Amino acid sequence: CNFLKEKDRKEILEILCTGLARQEYRGYDSAGLGIDGDKPGEIVFFKEVGKVAGLRQRISESSIDTTQSVMSQVSIAHTRWATHGPPSVINCHPLRSDVNNEFIVVHNGIVTNATALRQVLQKRGFKFESDTDTEAVAILTKYVYDSRHDKRMTFTALVKTVLKELEGSFALVFKSIHFPNEIVTARRGSPLLIGVKTEKKLKVDFVDVEFAGAEADTKAVESLVVPTSPTSRLAPPSLPKVSRRQSRNFMSEDGMPQPIEFFIASDASAIVEHTKRVLYLEDDDIAHIAEGQLHIHRLRRDESGKAEMPAIRNIETLEIEIAEIMKGKFDHFMQKEIYEQPESVVNTMRGRVNFDDYKITLGGLRAYLHIMRRGRRIVFCACGTSYHSALATRAIFEELTEIPVSVELASDFLDRKTPIFRDDICVFVSQSGETADTILALRYCLERGALCVGVVNTVGSTISRETHCGIHINAGPEVGVASTKAYTSQYIALMLMALQLSEDRISFTERRNQIIDGLRALPAQIKSVLENDKSLRELANSVLANSRSLLLMGRGYQHATCLEGALKIKEISYMHSEGILAGELKHGPLALIDENMPVIIIMTQDSLYPKVQSAFEQITARKAQPIVVCNEGDTGIKAGVKTIRVPRTMDCLQGLLNIIPLQLLSYHLAIKNGFDVDFPRNLAKSVTTE
Ligand code: G6P
Repeated sequence: CNFLKEKDRKEILEILCTGLARQEYRGYDSAGLGIDGDKPGEIVFFKEVGKVAGLRQRISESSIDTTQSVMSQVSIAHTRWATHGPPSVINCHPLRSDVNNEFIVVHNGIVTNATALRQVLQKRGFKFESDTDTEAVAILTKYVYDSRHDKRMTFTALVKTVLKELEGSFALVFKSIHFPNEIVTARRGSPLLIGVKTEKKLKVDFVDVEFAGAEADTKAVESLVVPTSPTSRLAPPSLPKVSRRQSRNFMSEDGMPQPIEFFIASDASAIVEHTKRVLYLEDDDIAHIAEGQLHIHRLRRDESGKAEMPAIRNIETLEIEIAEIMKGKFDHFMQKEIYEQPESVVNTMRGRVNFDDYKITLGGLRAYLHIMRRGRRIVFCACGTSYHSALATRAIFEELTEIPVSVELASDFLDRKTPIFRDDICVFVSQSGETADTILALRYCLERGALCVGVVNTVGSTISRETHCGIHINAGPEVGVASTKAYTSQYIALMLMALQLSEDRISFTERRNQIIDGLRALPAQIKSVLENDKSLRELANSVLANSRSLLLMGRGYQHATCLEGALKIKEISYMHSEGILAGELKHGPLALIDENMPVIIIMTQDSLYPKVQSAFEQITARKAQPIVVCNEGDTGIKAGVKTIRVPRTMDCLQGLLNIIPLQLLSYHLAIKNGFDVDFPRNLAKSVTTE
């Protein structure tokens, strides 16, 4: 939304397309945008299936006059990860209410009662063009607008009325020909932030939440009886109350109103090149932008009529740099992120590990350590790669803290309605901090009074804001859908947490000090593993070139490495791949073994080495020709066996080195097959829907 200075359409389209491209890792089935046309009230759409590059192409081939300058204008754009209906131009956002484009909407999330809404609206004669849940929102908005009792209803009040009918999760943006140069945006369950760009420094660094005004027109929808969906679990969190301050306009330090530009996005990466000043919306916030002003309202109040949320939204300063979200000299983000690991692990440890006196200081946990040490169990909750990082560190937590630890997949945890108690320590691990299943698990544990700890990469994300305390892993922005540097940084952050929790246990001092020495050596060791890149590429192009399947075996600490390595391979090279606990080999997987089944076995030197050796014998006796991940200098490996050598470190840190060749291998397998490494089919980096 631009109220800053005149811009021509070319510049506006460029801002939208670049912003989409930076958020593309969230979804890339199709992309679309809606901007003001030449005539008053006209909205022009561009939509294309596939990536944003295709959308750019479509725009460049169109006859739109890109030279025309406009002063104040609002435009919306979206890149989609299909949930309702296949990727197609018709299902591409923005979705509209009718052929006149009276209301257009972009949406991230899932409206779980969309089918019921659709049926009700269809009965009232509305026509649907797409298969999406979002279209029901656009049409419902028109329905409310047409039947409103309060004819002076503001855009915010209109949207508020609509939102009250919606179930599920959403970040929504509304634009309308009835409210030119205005935009309304709202969130529940899906992330949303607003960037603020001004030429002069602002006088205040917060925006008040307006609890009065913008009332919904309940009469407008009284005849709409929409069955509620039993599956909706997203409930607004209860956060501490803070006192209200006076509402103020956007003024510069000299007290003058400021020309201003607003950027609404799911993720800071989309806007960081325009401004670093952002405010994060909370669940059930509705933001209205018009005439250079931003107003934030709440969808609900609690029963006493008081505000349930803090009464201000602070304007914070982003700390990411644009270079961090560019590929630089690398061909792909994933490759760049794999190569960043010698530095990203240092960033995770920076200021937290004192290698001279063997002290760990995790500032984000300081006030809660005594509660954590008294906890009766630790429950990790996560999805995907983040889940693997928790699995990889479970044993060291159990060893150093002597507290029982369980590791839960967030979706399964919720499905089982796992019992959680006030003396449980629940740790939520998430790169994005926005994974819907993990957020729901967090809210489930908050409701039950457990101490909730976040281990998150994205500063300002929902999980980092809603947990009681936590650790930012500080790996820097991760763009490649296949997570790499976040895994190693999560692993280290969790390791630091285990070390810190155990620091009152004198009997573990020597073990702790050895681990800290191991952490010190790690960055250089990772660098040396990366030097094997060429031989891993050769492996991908020779022995594994025509494989349809790949088994990865290991045990103890390396079971998590096998699961994570298999996930990397299936995610981006689309090859079937399975991580197997070597101890379970004889209970099933051995039946898969013959001379044609490719196997990688992780046989680095820890206390389980002899047991893994016997698994090696069992599979070679069945004619398998495994590739062995082993330590440099290990002379126990038979001549003629293909090896991937890695430096040796402490047993509990070895997984940090062993995963790197597997990350590289998956990368080369995908490249060899010509697949899009950073945007694997059907996947999204941040899964903000259940
Ligand atoms: C998606 C991503 C994975 C990621 C998982 C959990 O599936 O593709 O790379 O590990 O979500 O995401 P989180 O942001 O919670 O770590």
